Amino acid sequence: MARIRVKAGDIHILISSVCVSITMANRMIYFTLGLFLLICCYSDRVMAGDPDPLQDFCVADEESNVLVNAFVCKDPMQVSANDFFFRGLGQAGNTDNDVGSNVTMANVKQIPGLNTFGISLVRIDYAVGGINPPHTHPRATEVLVLLEGQLLVGFIDTSNKFFSKALEKGDVFVFPKALVHFQQNVGHENAVAIAGLSSQFPGVQTIANSLFAANPPLPDSVLSKAFRITQELENYIQKKLAY
Ligand SMILES: *[C@@H]1O[C@H](CO)[C@@H](O)[C@H](O)[C@H]1NC(C)=O
Repeated sequence: MARIRVKAGDIHILISSVCVSITMANRMIYFTLGLFLLICCYSDRVMAGDPDPLQDFCVADEESNVLVNAFVCKDPMQVSANDFFFRGLGQAGNTDNDVGSNVTMANVKQIPGLNTFGISLVRIDYAVGGINPPHTHPRATEVLVLLEGQLLVGFIDTSNKFFSKALEKGDVFVFPKALVHFQQNVGHENAVAIAGLSSQFPGVQTIANSLFAANPPLPDSVLSKAFRITQELENYIQKKLAY
């Protein structure tokens, strides 16, 4: 299928200007064509993750001062196997913290060779009862495989429908791009999972922290009104989440 990258607005203008100057009979044909173009355009968008690379590789040059979308490419002559390598997911993260979980990342920051490839990994360790609290990845779909233990996982869609599953060792679960999701260790031993993400740098926003531990803090009136809670309760939550 031909992929023409046009903004939705461009197509709309095209369809409207074409439609004005044509006969009734032709209108149906142009309308169908327009609809087809729109569907192509949108299905392309739906499939799109990070942009595709235009060369074999573009290892991130973190020394460069040039700011572009993603990272500037390191001189290919200076690239070595180490740029594509990371020894770090074999070690458990320390879960001795308030939430009882620890995410070890393997994205473009740890592996410069991931630049422009639209893919990355994380290892997540969970103490008994530990939670990877509700959060979103603005740029990535996530597919998680449970290696050890038992997890309760779930996500919430944009109509607030909750999708949840209890995972056993070897089970896989998908968290759709940008939707709020979590995992909790509901077993009697430590749990560990590996997840792949459809972005070289997925980003993460943990909902409670974004709202109650923002810097500078959100105005009291915003949070107490939004959550229908008293100012005292709001201050209590803010203190709990402050680092
Ligand atoms: C996660 O584990 C690493 C390695 O043990 C540790 O340095 C880091 O502080 C831990 N992070 C949290 C949030 O506990």
